[in-house]
Amino acid sequence: MAQITIIGNGNMARSLAVRMLAARHSVQILGRSTEKTRELVESLGAGAQGGAEGAAVEGGIIFLAVPYSEAIKTVQIYGDTLDGRVVVDISNPVDFATFDHLVTPAGSSAAEQVALHASTGASVVKAFNTCFAKPLESGVVSGIPLDVFIAGDSEDAKLKVSAVVAASGLRPIDAGPLRRARELEGIMLLIMGLQVGTAHENFNWDTSLNLLP
Ligand SMILES: NC(=O)c1ccc[n+]([C@@H]2O[C@H](COP(=O)([O-])OP(=O)(O)OC[C@H]3O[C@@H](n4cnc5c(N)ncnc54)[C@H](OP(=O)(O)O)[C@@H]3O)[C@@H](O)[C@H]2O)c1
Repeated sequence: MAQITIIGNGNMARSLAVRMLAARHSVQILGRSTEKTRELVESLGAGAQGGAEGAAVEGGIIFLAVPYSEAIKTVQIYGDTLDGRVVVDISNPVDFATFDHLVTPAGSSAAEQVALHASTGASVVKAFNTCFAKPLESGVVSGIPLDVFIAGDSEDAKLKVSAVVAASGLRPIDAGPLRRARELEGIMLLIMGLQVGTAHENFNWDTSLNLLP
């Protein structure tokens, strides 16, 4: 049984899998394209296994490496099979057409919406949305381990995520309750808006949000 399940097989799925394997955790990747999932699993090597979207989840920690709207659908589909597990929302619910606003309801966040639609027995945690895929894969930015901001209402769930973050060579930072996801998502709207702009040429998708020193 894999210890970690990643739903999705795109850029963040790859980077999260690389980090989890570095932490010596076994990883199950569930994607809607069998071929793409197979290619990803083969490139990851030992410790990774694949499956179809909708297959039974094995991991105690489940990363939703899909767009925000799909994250909500995913927890609805899996229902109470997520009970007793930690579900990690990594999404940045940005309007990618304009980079001008978030697409979440006012006074909420993607993570809170995911929690609202998830079974009450699942513990939803916000994490990794401030890490871009490329630096996350290497684990460092400018030679410094990435910070991972973790928000959630279950202390136990946050400790579990913190443990795998630390084991994967990154620095976990407890950001408080799940409603802090609003700020974590808001800051990424700001950062991504700057990245797509032309004013700061060295501020791009290779950067990461870290607290220094
Ligand atoms: N990229 C980053 O640097 C970064 C950083 C922080 C957070 N995030 C967040 O991480 C999540 C994944 O981003 P990503 O960069 O990995 O995206 P990606 O490379 O485009 O991969 C998206 C994954 O979601 C699946 N997917 C997309 N639309 C879907 C749909 N309508 N129904 C079911 N599955 C669907 C894709 O499957 P198919 O291949 O079959 O389409 C793919 O497996 C997003 O929520 C994003 O906001 C990304």
